[in-house]
Amino acid sequence: MTEDPRTSRRSQAWFGAQGRSGMVYRSWMRSQGFGHEVFDGRPVIGIATSASELAPCNAHLTRVAEAVKRGVWQAGGFPLQFPTMATGETLMRPTAMLYRNLMAMEVEELIRANPLDGVVLLSGCDKTTPAMLMGAASVDLPAVMVTGGPMLNGKYRGQDVGSGTHVWKFEEDLKTGRMTEEECFFAEGCMARSNGHCMTMGTASTMACLAEALGMQLPGSAAWPAVDSRRMETAQAAGQRIVGMVEEELRPSRILTREAFENAVRVNAAIGGSTNAVIHLLAIAGRVGVDLSLWDFDELARAVPTLVNLMPSGKYLMEDFCYAGGLPAVLAELLGGGLLHGSQITVTGRTIAENNTGSTDNTGNTERVGSDPDPDFDVITRLDAPLQPAGTGIAVLRGNLCPDGAVIKQSAASPHLLTHRGPARVFDSPEAYHEVADDPDLDIDENTVIVIRNAGPKGYPGMPEVANVPLPAKLLKAGVKDMVRVCDGRMSGTGYGTVVLHVAPEAAVGGPLALVHDGDPVVLDVPHRTLRLDVDDAELTRRRRAWRAPAERHAGGYAWLYTQNVEQADRGADFGFLRGNRGHEVPRDSH
Ligand code: FES
Ligand code: MG
Repeated sequence: MTEDPRTSRRSQAWFGAQGRSGMVYRSWMRSQGFGHEVFDGRPVIGIATSASELAPCNAHLTRVAEAVKRGVWQAGGFPLQFPTMATGETLMRPTAMLYRNLMAMEVEELIRANPLDGVVLLSGCDKTTPAMLMGAASVDLPAVMVTGGPMLNGKYRGQDVGSGTHVWKFEEDLKTGRMTEEECFFAEGCMARSNGHCMTMGTASTMACLAEALGMQLPGSAAWPAVDSRRMETAQAAGQRIVGMVEEELRPSRILTREAFENAVRVNAAIGGSTNAVIHLLAIAGRVGVDLSLWDFDELARAVPTLVNLMPSGKYLMEDFCYAGGLPAVLAELLGGGLLHGSQITVTGRTIAENNTGSTDNTGNTERVGSDPDPDFDVITRLDAPLQPAGTGIAVLRGNLCPDGAVIKQSAASPHLLTHRGPARVFDSPEAYHEVADDPDLDIDENTVIVIRNAGPKGYPGMPEVANVPLPAKLLKAGVKDMVRVCDGRMSGTGYGTVVLHVAPEAAVGGPLALVHDGDPVVLDVPHRTLRLDVDDAELTRRRRAWRAPAERHAGGYAWLYTQNVEQADRGADFGFLRGNRGHEVPRDSH
């Protein structure tokens, strides 16, 4: 005889308990006005929301949660909304990335400690999506992601402006006198017209698309603007679907397979996605024990052309992407070209191929929640006429300057700098560079390689987005548009330039970046995937012996925990002790 799910469900260890314990678990819940029928063994669904006014990209998630809740009730579940921390990219110092792992820990522990059978994860801003996926993967209860959707396209004087990407452009225009302070102030408001996350293909849009590519988010869900009523429709559909996922025991460990990650890596190449996705996917893979390496990104992406014409690599924004068909259009194109594992299972219970090809409804609703039937091939290009040819996306470099790897986003770089030899000018911090960047007598020319170090996971700490430092003012004024920069930190997903990122190991743990001197020749050869310091081994050995680790700056608190446990960028910058799936066994009784 099979077990009755109504009595065997995880939540029944709380709500189905006899005696004093059961009374405690139920009685206080009833203080919220729920009738006793909610304890009858129906699936209890957590709605984890990272809504916060301190994370503006997530501020509207409380409304999204209402739509999810409606869906859960409709499908016969019992929804319970709870807050998680939010890592807002724009305000948090020294960097939101410092707190991604903390948020992931919190998500994991809150799910496990509570009477939940499944969970809907509401995220938006950059780190909130990977943090939630990491946490949920380590608990492995059925989970579906709902990202909050992008802002509407920015509009400034008749022109589309992209969040993030235009901040860099406006900054340069201000420095070169093409814009005044007043115009910049006005443009700020034009760039952020609505709720939602950045509407460029920055990290937030990238991670929303990759959550969908991994199979963790409903088809078509990534692209709906935050304020589009269909955002709420897809959220409601997710609420309905999670109840079915609980019945089917469709857990992240069944969805997040090696094949799912291979799909995500290839989709990241096709959408011209953020370099930050490399770190986040490595970290999520570590939670489910999938052996994904930095080198996989280069190898898997080589066959994939960039199809999506969005800033910062192209010209359009997420609203256009949505109307052009959104991620389903991209997936259909890649599936058609044999570039994805079509049999990969997703949160719908169907495969990624079943979700994204043919005309089957993909959410369980009678009306399709997905793509526009009349796609714009200039926004989402075809495989036979792509925006950029295969092999021009994120490249992974090796060499004596980055023994454990480094990445560069070729589509955001200048073609003439992809092979370059120039003298290093070394800065021990981004601040040290900014102090002199506007000095008219700065000893830097366009061939110089700007090296920014101590911006890695342990060194900063938190691996901030400081790698794409603006060019020196005197060179900008002379018309120089790009220079090679090398850093152990990250770059904003909305940024551009010939910037080598994520150099591992970082300088603060004694990586070769720590040994570079001013004037040393740095040789970048992206076609051959190398980054070298043209200094002989004997000299580097001598410098290494003389190197002293920087003093530990954090004696306690979270920053101490972080610096003691964070792994290097090529491992996803997760905490070593958070790798793996710790399951969802019901903890011991609390009283
Ligand atoms: Fe939140 Fe860009 S700052 S998504
Ligand atoms: Mg960012």
